[in-house]
Amino acid sequence: QVEGLNRMELSTELKGCYEKLLSHIVITDLTLTSHPAAATAVDELKKLAEARFGITPVVASSAELGAGIRLTVSDTSDFNPNEEALLGEEGYRLSATSIGQETGRLTVTGGSPAGLLYGTFHVIRLLLAGEDVSMLQLVERPANPLRLMNQWDNADGSIERGYAGNSIFYEQGRIHADLSRVRDYARLLASVGVNGISINNVNVHAVETTFIQRHMMPEMARIAAIFRAYAIKLYLSVNFASPVELGELRTADPLENDVRNWWAARAEELYAMLPDFGGFLVKADSEHRPGPFTYGRDHADGANMLADALAPHGGIVVWRCFVYNCTQDWRDRSTDRAKAAYDHFTPLDGRFRDNVVLQIKNGPMDFQVREPVSPLLGAMPRTNQIIEFQAAQEYTGQQRHLCYLVPQWKEALSFETYAQGEGSTVSRAVSGQLHNRPLGGIASVSNIGDDAFWTGHPLAQANLYGYGRLAWNPQLTSEEIADEWTKLTFGSSEQARTVIHQMLMSSWPIYESYTAPLGVGWMVTPHTHYGPDVDGYEYSRWGTYHFADRSGIGVNRTTANGTGYTAQYREPHRSGYESVTACPDELLLFFHHVPYEHRLHSGKTIIQHIYDTHFEGAEAAAQLLQAWTGLEGFIDSETYARVQSRHEEQAAHATHWRDVINTYFYRKSGIADERGRKIY
Ligand code: GCU
Repeated sequence: QVEGLNRMELSTELKGCYEKLLSHIVITDLTLTSHPAAATAVDELKKLAEARFGITPVVASSAELGAGIRLTVSDTSDFNPNEEALLGEEGYRLSATSIGQETGRLTVTGGSPAGLLYGTFHVIRLLLAGEDVSMLQLVERPANPLRLMNQWDNADGSIERGYAGNSIFYEQGRIHADLSRVRDYARLLASVGVNGISINNVNVHAVETTFIQRHMMPEMARIAAIFRAYAIKLYLSVNFASPVELGELRTADPLENDVRNWWAARAEELYAMLPDFGGFLVKADSEHRPGPFTYGRDHADGANMLADALAPHGGIVVWRCFVYNCTQDWRDRSTDRAKAAYDHFTPLDGRFRDNVVLQIKNGPMDFQVREPVSPLLGAMPRTNQIIEFQAAQEYTGQQRHLCYLVPQWKEALSFETYAQGEGSTVSRAVSGQLHNRPLGGIASVSNIGDDAFWTGHPLAQANLYGYGRLAWNPQLTSEEIADEWTKLTFGSSEQARTVIHQMLMSSWPIYESYTAPLGVGWMVTPHTHYGPDVDGYEYSRWGTYHFADRSGIGVNRTTANGTGYTAQYREPHRSGYESVTACPDELLLFFHHVPYEHRLHSGKTIIQHIYDTHFEGAEAAAQLLQAWTGLEGFIDSETYARVQSRHEEQAAHATHWRDVINTYFYRKSGIADERGRKIY
């Protein structure tokens, strides 16, 4: 309903050109529309023509027709050899001929119906953004084969770490009768190229454990059909102990034949109803979830058992690496949670089946505002890997604070692993390119719920959009993605676009500046993870400490005299992080315990840095609110009001963060702020 006010104004000329194009949709082979994704492509163009231009396109198969959008699959007769090689299955070519004239055409050639759909969405994006398409000539294909969305939705309708209302999938233990919201979501995801979705929380509770049982198949088929129309495969998170918890076997030992047969039978049933089912997502031996360790087996045994069940049907296992000791004793200074994933998984390199892919969080801890990049990424040349991001802003303001995460994700993707010398970026490692792996890609924890704005904070939609765009093409810059999104969402007002672009781009550094300093992380209220509590996790079992005392702060993770975590990196990172002088400022407290008087490369002492960033951060949060207030009247009133209220909260809460953190460190260190500002 907000589209009217926010959409891009078009010049008469451009409008005329678009209308001519949308007057006819020519499908070279009408049987193509029996394929759900191709039918959706036609439907999306019709929707655009009707909603935006008030015209109903003629849909025809005749190639004789004049102007129009021509949709075809794999008809590469007029391609040059280069274009043909580039296309690939999910790719597409967009090619304009004589636009502006009577016979002007835009041809979308998909490598498959899915490619056709992606190409169509690309065209729609261009038309909604008011771009000139007359010279359009491009071929695109996704960099990553797997572009996955992980819902952390529970059958009771709640969402683990959900910040935008309840689930659109479930209510009171059942799948919603009305799945229209799910259809809209599928459309959003497909428009940015997401091609797989797991629809239940990685923590699989009792009701969700039954999702793989025969009686649930019709329900799963109902959901799969919706996603199929958008070329998105359905995945399920499964409980490793299912055979036991469903009361069918006395063991879930992955090497027991009964267990192997049990899973094979479940896979048979699933694929009988869902021939294009994607596979299983598994959180095992992690935070009290069951797994192969119970039976003295390892992660490869567990993952391979499930992989063997799925392989005959073309399914895959996505096995998470978020494995660490969550019952650590804080007095134990030798155990380092950051080391856990690498230590558990690297010895298993080469043992996983080809249809297993390891899903690795971007950092070694847990989606903090700042962490180094996980050293596990790129470290297993004989294993498929994907990187996991968290669009849900668990530790980054919970969609009440603005935090555009694309720049953070870009940093992770462009990180050099040096696994094969220079150019061995995480991006190439996870796409499968670096080690020539058959599978790879990116997954993200979703940030949506049944909220009217989908994501609670309307501007948090930029993270959902940006995630999909980045998974498709990691070369896009954060600015380009912010630009695209603001144009498509708030196209009509240049002022709104400019201000929102700036707000997005400044938001991650702002959030970082008033929360935990210099990569040390945490300092949040236990359990909810919202708001400051500096010692909240300091004496707990979670392995998340800052070790602040009266003389200094930080975690010594050096190999010389710390936990030895730095040894998990290749050179030159290993020495870079090991050295207190070479270590980048923003990660200093992740790697080193230093005195408050230690000078950063910036020239400031640690303590002064903490004071300054927290005063500046709270100030910047107040400016975000002010910037937004200036947009009243330029965007629709509902969006305006929602964002306004979020920024009021952020501004006040940033002040609270500032005062709690500054006061804590002033009291600990006894060192006054050089500038004599108010600290309590
Ligand atoms: C975090 C989060 C949990 C979640 C876990 C995971 O620890 O707080 O709610 O289950 O990550 O990724 O499995």
